[in-house]
Amino acid sequence: MERTDGPTPLRRQMRLGVFVQTPGHHVAGWRHPDAMVDGWPNLGLMQRIAATAEAARFDMFFLGDGFATGYGEHPSTIGKFEPLTLLAALAMGTSRLGLAATASTTYAEPYHVARGFASLDHLSGGRAGWNVVTTAYAKSSAVFGRQHPPHAERYAMAEEFVEACRLLWDSWDDGAFIGDKASGRFVRPGSLRVPDFRGKYFTVEGALNVPRPPQGHPVLIQAGSSGPGQALAARIADVVFTAQNDLAEAQAFYRGMKALLVEHGRAASDALVMPGVMPVVGRTTREAQEILSELSRNIDTTQAFTVLSERLGADMSVHPLDGPVPDVPETEHLKSRAALLLQMARREKLTLRELFHRVAAARGHLLPVGTPTEVADVLEHWFRSGAADGFNVMPPFFPGQFEEFARHVVPILQERGLFRADYSGVTLRDHLGLARKIRHI
Ligand SMILES: Cc1cc2nc3c(=O)[nH]c(=O)nc-3n(C[C@H](O)[C@H](O)[C@H](O)COP(=O)(O)O)c2cc1C
Repeated sequence: MERTDGPTPLRRQMRLGVFVQTPGHHVAGWRHPDAMVDGWPNLGLMQRIAATAEAARFDMFFLGDGFATGYGEHPSTIGKFEPLTLLAALAMGTSRLGLAATASTTYAEPYHVARGFASLDHLSGGRAGWNVVTTAYAKSSAVFGRQHPPHAERYAMAEEFVEACRLLWDSWDDGAFIGDKASGRFVRPGSLRVPDFRGKYFTVEGALNVPRPPQGHPVLIQAGSSGPGQALAARIADVVFTAQNDLAEAQAFYRGMKALLVEHGRAASDALVMPGVMPVVGRTTREAQEILSELSRNIDTTQAFTVLSERLGADMSVHPLDGPVPDVPETEHLKSRAALLLQMARREKLTLRELFHRVAAARGHLLPVGTPTEVADVLEHWFRSGAADGFNVMPPFFPGQFEEFARHVVPILQERGLFRADYSGVTLRDHLGLARKIRHI
């Protein structure tokens, strides 16, 4: 029988997010001719990326966040928009694209965060997502004049923070706001539930003045892969971001995360595991490799050492570059990332210089370099062999390399039935195949 409607979609399809960190994820990405750096910070560039992502039927547009700035910082963190403010602006120019932002549970109040994401969910018609982070770096505490809590305490705070936000989102019943002029009732009696949450770190004894979000609760994302990170994800996450660069390790992480979900009384499909990937796409393999080499030649050593030292939790600039990667004590910052990078260095017998370049590029995430078909093959292999439910795409620079991926790799994934040809739903939960969140309590 002649098939008329194109490739038969597979029962299970991958999810794609774009991790928007302009001018690019590669430390030297901004120096590439196809990177846009003028008019900083550039709303037009953000709108262009969002339009490209929606046209390619991406699940979400994702923004990271942090509080540090300075000459030695990664160019993409020095000067930028506050994430929720930017996503509210982008919600006006998009209709299906999920909009996910990062917010800290260490340097914020549950009420403000709950209100911001509930508002974004209403403004976007149910497309909001929240990446729950504990803010790993101690230097972030400077702008708040506070002591930076240790790793375990940050996660204990995060557990309470999320619980309080969920209760706040459930303050009003669905459909509570009736605006009944005849009866004079603006809200339905009995539709308010005032949270009464008293924790060790946070207390909330009042309701949220935003109606219940269209998704019930915005999509919750968690990106910590340490023991406490995975435990938090198993309890609360709809999406789990992770950094992986070795298939066997990624498969082990995937299996472990799914088992943990079941241990917490959830289904394995209740949370999607989406590793980060930095695709470097060229018309030929050689061209793709040349793009990466050119970026490596333009690396600012100070910035790259900042990125490497922070992730290992020790100053690497004091060690000989052509020597082996030194042992470092366990960090209180990004525990899983430091372990991942040391594992990669040991497994591949990298010198410090080789690790330096890998981290300056993809910070330990998967780094396929090649033609659109070669990149699609890598994603298909990871997806089909139980290492990922989808990917968080981290272009080395914007807009050039993101548009290469969206225009040349995505059509191949669609042709193979691995990725949606069109949106079938409206909300971010629809796209991710996740149920609307009914009341938490
Ligand atoms: C894809 C991805 C995006 C992340 N985005 C942020 C971010 O925007 N802000 C932040 O403070 N941490 C971010 N992180 C760091 C995590 O929140 C977490 O601190 C880190 O993975 C280490 O977690 P662990 O200490 O539990 O191993 C991100 C991590 C990943 C994998």
